[in-house]
Amino acid sequence: MERVISGIRPTGNLHLGNYFGAVKSFVKMQDEYDCMFFIADWHSLTTHPTPENIRSSVKTILSEYLACGIDPEKAPIYVQSDVKQVLELYLYLNMNAYLGELERVTSFKEKVRKQPDNVNAGLLTYPCLMAADILMHKADKVPVGKDQEQNMEMARLFARRFNRIYNVEYFKEPASFYFADKAVKVPGLDGTGKMGKSEGNCLYLCDDEKTVTKKIMRAVTDQGPTQLNQEKPEVIQNLFTLCELLSGKEAADYYNDLYNRMEIRYGDMKKQMAADANTLLAPIRERILAYSSDDALLEKIMRQGAEAAAERAEKTIEEVREIIGFRKI
Ligand code: ADP
Ligand code: TRP
Repeated sequence: MERVISGIRPTGNLHLGNYFGAVKSFVKMQDEYDCMFFIADWHSLTTHPTPENIRSSVKTILSEYLACGIDPEKAPIYVQSDVKQVLELYLYLNMNAYLGELERVTSFKEKVRKQPDNVNAGLLTYPCLMAADILMHKADKVPVGKDQEQNMEMARLFARRFNRIYNVEYFKEPASFYFADKAVKVPGLDGTGKMGKSEGNCLYLCDDEKTVTKKIMRAVTDQGPTQLNQEKPEVIQNLFTLCELLSGKEAADYYNDLYNRMEIRYGDMKKQMAADANTLLAPIRERILAYSSDDALLEKIMRQGAEAAAERAEKTIEEVREIIGFRKI
């Protein structure tokens, strides 16, 4: 059975971008593939969280994974820092990753621009750690959002390079996997770019009903079309993208027709989106609360996940050590 791995950094609550871009695929895939999902807490250290931040975010994201429908009986969930073998592979991959190519990664360049006083080595070698997460499991498919494509290309490059250097056919090149026929990029409620925590334009899975409605009703729009069949400006295109995700294609087509006839009332469209968002989120919200108050259950799930992941990771590391020329330990 094909293997699937994916993870999300615990840096706050999950939002609709994470849900439609990644977690929804995780839930779909767990029935058809040999899946494992993890919480990428080592990756989150690039922003220097406090111990309290880490502890609470790991618990939050685990509860949210479960609330979205990941079933740890089908797909073990583990915390990255529980599986130390990943670090050893990270080190080996670092030795074959070149400064120039790491510096050219767009998300690294963006961090350099946005946080010039914290350009740490962990940020630079982020793609190596991510590749270690993936190659460790010899994953065939990795469900991620579009923004991760460059990191995925690096993972494939590192796999090929390792095989070439040691003249083996050891690592598989992992494919990015999108739940929809194309990569989803969930726009933010401010009408621009993507929904993201650092953008402050998110609808969170744990937002209460009132907040969901308020945020959607306030989503940025314009004065409305001034010509028949007018091309949509970016903010409006984004609203339609969100509408299709929340209310379905039929609803989006219906409002599109109204738009083309210059009869659209954004307020009506948003009301429907808010109602559908609440229908989607109400049960998730309830389950988040239930899981996050059951520490014993969360602990058990993390322990079982770590055991399953470590077993696989250990096997890979033993083989990699042998390929590189290290003694068996
Ligand atoms: P954030 O941008 O809020 O920090 P992350 O970068 O931690 O979110 O993303 C975690 C996962 O969710 C990744 O697989 C990413 O591709 C996906 N994701 C995040 N935001 C979006 C979005 N707006 N559209 C599609 N996928 C997204
Ligand atoms: N880089 C991913 C993100 O920011 C998180 C991540 C780390 C990941 N390691 C991974 C995703 C391995 C998929 C597979 O969202």
